[in-house]
Amino acid sequence: MIKNDLFLRAAKGEKVERVPIWLMRQAGRILPQYRALRNKLSGFKELVETPELACEVTLQPVDELGVDAAIIFSDILVIPEAMGLSYEMVEKKGPFFPKTVQTLEDVERLKIAEAQDIGYTLEAIKLTKKELNGRIPLIGFAGAPWTIFAYMIEGSGSKTFSKAKAKLYQNPELSHALLEKITQSTIVYLKGQIAAGADLVQVFDSWAGILTPTQYRTFAFPYIQKICDAIEEVPMTVFAKGAYFAREAVGQLDCAVVGVDWNMDIAKTRALVGANKTLQGNLDPCQLYAPTAEIKKATLDMLQQFGGQRHIANLGHGVYPDTPLDGVRCFIDTVQEWQVMSDV
Ligand code: CP3
Repeated sequence: MIKNDLFLRAAKGEKVERVPIWLMRQAGRILPQYRALRNKLSGFKELVETPELACEVTLQPVDELGVDAAIIFSDILVIPEAMGLSYEMVEKKGPFFPKTVQTLEDVERLKIAEAQDIGYTLEAIKLTKKELNGRIPLIGFAGAPWTIFAYMIEGSGSKTFSKAKAKLYQNPELSHALLEKITQSTIVYLKGQIAAGADLVQVFDSWAGILTPTQYRTFAFPYIQKICDAIEEVPMTVFAKGAYFAREAVGQLDCAVVGVDWNMDIAKTRALVGANKTLQGNLDPCQLYAPTAEIKKATLDMLQQFGGQRHIANLGHGVYPDTPLDGVRCFIDTVQEWQVMSDV
């Protein structure tokens, strides 16, 4: 039994008394207690791979900010690593893969991940569920196949991911083979997270928006669809950042929740996605740097546009690490104080 289950009820489309809220990247550098713990360690990966520590930082925003859902502390890049392509997290720079995928032989050498290859995150989920003791739901997550593909080909972050996009044009056969392996690994991993206790799983397609509509239809959508069809145990969220051209298609997926970024008009998104999905988002993360009176106004405006039901409040993408905590708190408090009209 979960005491505050507003998040799960909203996800499933059940009536809520108020709109639930959590923040993408809520566990991380916005919190001084995260930075303090992180500074004592060898690096980011030690945090991800030590279940007790991952559990501790997962709970930090729950205790500090009073959000309505926790998200397990990990990273989308654990999947490439489990498949045989390890990553480094370079301080102040981001992810780096010493080896990348370039040929069909490289794809063939990769394995389909087994849940135990990412046992540390599954263990962290079990510990966190125990510590949460039913206070709020716990979200599990993975990267979408295209976004994971982009890192595995490119080898690091990039503004354009032009090497990864080029590969789709140059070698569709390799591309489909790699996307299929990532998809199978992701299904295994998400099912492992659900078995460990995740109450909902979110798939992050952070780089969906750089694809052409045709590329999205060919190389991104079919694989997300396979994941949606395979996950039956818990509700699922699909967040295809920047893929405004694909909203109608995303609305057809067998998922409960669709993520909305700040570029997307709320009414238009609702019309394209349809009435049978919960929408999650979409305040501009940069809005939280404004004076609190402005944040409050923008938050109320957002809440009214979504209309109170079938909405989970969040930012339009992850919170930036140097966001003032007062701004974050103002956003959360404004949502939690807003009363949904009883007759809607
Ligand atoms: O609170 C949460 O949302 C849970 C934890 C979480 C992290 N990464 C922790 C993290 C989640 C859900 C992710 C997902 C993730 N990781 C995505 C998809 C979501 C998105 O933002 O689009 C992507 C693209 C990644 C890959 C990744 N991991 C990058 C590009 C970086 C470096 C950028 C940065 O902010 O430094 C990371 C590192 C990372 N993952 C950090 C955190 C808290 C910062 C690491 C640190 O402590 O130095």
